[in-house]
Amino acid sequence: MCGIVGYVGDREAGEVLVKGLKRLEYRGYDSAGVAIMNGRMSIQKGKGKVVNLEKGIFANGLKGHIGIGHTRWATHGEPNDVNSHPHMSQSGNIAVVHNGIIENYTSLKKKLIERGRTFSSQTDTEIIAQLLEEIYTTSKDVTFEQAIQLTLKQIVGTYGLAIVNIEFPDKIFIARKGSPLLLGVGENEMFIASDASPIVEYTNKVVYLDDGEMAVVDKYSYEVKTIDDIALTKEVHELAISIDAIEKAGYPHFMLKEIFEQPRSIADCMRGRVNVKENTIQLGGIADVMEELVNAKRIVIAACGTSWHSGLVGEYLFEHLAKTPVEVEYASEFRYRDPLIGEGDVMLVISQSGETADTLAALREAKKRGAKVLGICNVVGSTISRETDAGVFTHAGPEIGVASTKAFTAQVVVLTMMALATGMKKGTISKKEAARYIKELSLIPDKVDQILKECDENIKKMASLFTYAPNFLYLGRSYNFPVALEGALKLKEISYIHAEGYPAAEMKHGPIALIDEMMPVVVIAATDHTNDKMISNIEEVRARKGRIISIMNSENSDVKDLSEFSISIPSTVDCFSPLLTVIPLQLLSYYIAVNRGCNVDQPRNLAKSVTVE
Ligand code: G6P
Repeated sequence: MCGIVGYVGDREAGEVLVKGLKRLEYRGYDSAGVAIMNGRMSIQKGKGKVVNLEKGIFANGLKGHIGIGHTRWATHGEPNDVNSHPHMSQSGNIAVVHNGIIENYTSLKKKLIERGRTFSSQTDTEIIAQLLEEIYTTSKDVTFEQAIQLTLKQIVGTYGLAIVNIEFPDKIFIARKGSPLLLGVGENEMFIASDASPIVEYTNKVVYLDDGEMAVVDKYSYEVKTIDDIALTKEVHELAISIDAIEKAGYPHFMLKEIFEQPRSIADCMRGRVNVKENTIQLGGIADVMEELVNAKRIVIAACGTSWHSGLVGEYLFEHLAKTPVEVEYASEFRYRDPLIGEGDVMLVISQSGETADTLAALREAKKRGAKVLGICNVVGSTISRETDAGVFTHAGPEIGVASTKAFTAQVVVLTMMALATGMKKGTISKKEAARYIKELSLIPDKVDQILKECDENIKKMASLFTYAPNFLYLGRSYNFPVALEGALKLKEISYIHAEGYPAAEMKHGPIALIDEMMPVVVIAATDHTNDKMISNIEEVRARKGRIISIMNSENSDVKDLSEFSISIPSTVDCFSPLLTVIPLQLLSYYIAVNRGCNVDQPRNLAKSVTVE
């Protein structure tokens, strides 16, 4: 959470910073601010979105060729003007932007106040500016870089930091521990950002900072070292993403664009991996660890949010196709439980961003305890993708809408390919079965396309009837239980309607009490082997006058007859059903949120990348 940008070069820094912050707004949008140096330190910041900041920069004529900027997701201190970044040292010479949390800020603040420092905000970040200035101005023979190192050694917590000091008018100082930061290397200009999206239109050369590293950057060069002052030579990576991928391409929202991209993103995810002719699945990223996956005593999947839901689908897939026992953990719970994991276990971490702090912590814990850790990530170069022993990228392209859509389907495709490849190697699925699955998997992009074309209008109409429903219940069984959870999450996230996902049979043990003629109940009734049981559950809802919206296979007239509204989708094998059933649910939540006038791409209080625990 929180996005950081920095620029030094010949361009107008304000323009580069604002453009970059707009691209990073998915990481937080409580407030935004910049510090620009031009003989003096100019600060513009305030509550609200980057567009407000942009107006302020323009109105106040902030000019200069070097600066840092920030878009905030509030942790310490309410989102108001004072708590907006950048934060300044007492003299006003040093400005700091920060992504992360300083855990020992209360004790540090107390000591700094005792020593005469005055604070103007409630943030943990201001500590950094104040402590840094104190160390720099009161210690003898300490360079500014050394003062940063000494400051960071006193800090407990996580940070991605960009710092400017008016004494060094051509330099930006950056450091990283736990929050992502990268450096874009241009021609006589340098960029700093939390991810590649602000940089991609200027340069495709990037250097990823690792934990415990810092850099001093000017327009011509950069110098990376550890915070213990050991000089490092870093690899320069080439970015593969294009500018088109991070624009809206005519869609009103990124979320809608990303929903409609799914036929392509699913196909991209399978490209070069699924071979129907030869009946094979090749996953280059995990080829070297395939033996370990095949022989795993069990697989522990750790993830958060939507990625956790795809992990639940993965559990069904691995147990069914590869006969490997699977446990799915909330990453945030895993590490605090003294987890029983070690050699012979495989941990699979799933993360769109590859930066989620809890998932990263689970990964590190499992590694420490001797498990082989594999990753499924979307963002190439992300921390999780670099720290796992091996992994498979989802290749869904940049996902910018805060509510995850195409990343979910791509994760499920990767899990499907992994489970199939493991099952084929283990011999838990025959060649003939494998051929049927592989053929069916290759048809999924076209079926998703068909759903988008045939159901969109219908769902839009249905959404207008349920726009003001205060509650929703989502029910699914087997492979579609995780989809029920995901459908409910999508609705909650972007429309702020209370929604619960439940295994259909569990409804009897509580949620059934909520059902009356006001309650829309979305039933995902598209898995053949649970069809009869699902019909019984639908009858139970009908008996209490609940309003049934069903997602069902086109030929399932029984379900259709029992539903007030039904969305019919093409059929597939049960285990691939989530890849199809989730699509109407994404659209339903999208249209309801739009009807309610909600900010679909940037829902309140949420952030796309949660880099705090
Ligand atoms: C946040 C996002 C969700 C996402 C979750 C996990 O809560 O708003 O959309 O599913 O983080 O993110 P990850 O990047 O690890 O998949």
